[in-house]
Amino acid sequence: MNDAAARPFFSLPTLPKADAEDLHRAVTALRRRTGIVLGEHKIDMAGRTLGLHAHRAGMSSVREYLTMIEQNVGSPEWNQLISAFTVNHTAFFREKYHFEILAEFCEARKNKPLSVWCCASSTGEEPYSIAITMHEACGRANAGMSVLASDIDVHALARARKGVYTMDRARPIRPELLRRYFLRGAGAQAGMVMIKPFIREMITFEEVNLVDASWPIKQKFDAIFCRNTMIYFDKPTQTRILQRFAPLLKPGGLLFAGHSENFTYLTDAFRLKGQTVYTAA
Ligand SMILES: C[S@@+](CC[C@H](N)C(=O)[O-])C[C@H]1O[C@@H](n2cnc3c(N)ncnc32)[C@H](O)[C@@H]1O
Repeated sequence: MNDAAARPFFSLPTLPKADAEDLHRAVTALRRRTGIVLGEHKIDMAGRTLGLHAHRAGMSSVREYLTMIEQNVGSPEWNQLISAFTVNHTAFFREKYHFEILAEFCEARKNKPLSVWCCASSTGEEPYSIAITMHEACGRANAGMSVLASDIDVHALARARKGVYTMDRARPIRPELLRRYFLRGAGAQAGMVMIKPFIREMITFEEVNLVDASWPIKQKFDAIFCRNTMIYFDKPTQTRILQRFAPLLKPGGLLFAGHSENFTYLTDAFRLKGQTVYTAA
């Protein structure tokens, strides 16, 4: 084999390496900014991610990169890092029983304005499932239905706003709901579905960081969906957030938690109704 044949076709850049001190600094900065506590298994991956981001930002060391983001809270690099470290796993009608509970709850309030906050909406499957459920339950009988869909991850929010999904992602949606609420893509969009505009118009998408000292929220909600997100925060952070949710719920309002989340021992502001659904105490 000659030299040219032995050489790789293209060479990967040598990324700056993160040492233990860099990792500690990064984990602390991320936790302060987002509340996310990185598990041990993620810390290895974090080193490579930081090296990659430092390289892309034109820096020769992870240390230099960390100093830059620590000193510049408004840097767009933060959005990249937050996207890299958030877990966006979600699905349409995930934990189906919650949508049955929401449907019953909405039917009982058919003639009143209804508003729901989906506070970790990821790529949009959850707020669209909420809006479809509200529309199915109340239909035209209720003109005042709205959903606030928020997340810390601006890249996930951008995908959510588009409301375009592969057929594979849309598989949990019942066929009649798919027909009623989605348009099928054609040509270059074949194999994709897009949420119909009248459902998208029910939803306002907004960047909200749950650990920020104040939230840009000026209304009360009939329900708050905060599912599969608190598990990434430590207990004091979870308690603080729950105590701030309580006054944002209208009387009789519901708080939906993820299937593996238990808020009972964190605060007495909420009482478990069942199936990881809570009401203000
Ligand atoms: C695993 S997803 C859950 C999505 C959806 N709630 C569900 O149950 O299918 C967790 C979401 O929480 C968001 N998140 C993490 N930290 C956050 C914070 N401090 N404020 C707001 N959203 C956050 C992530 O960006 C991610 O989209």
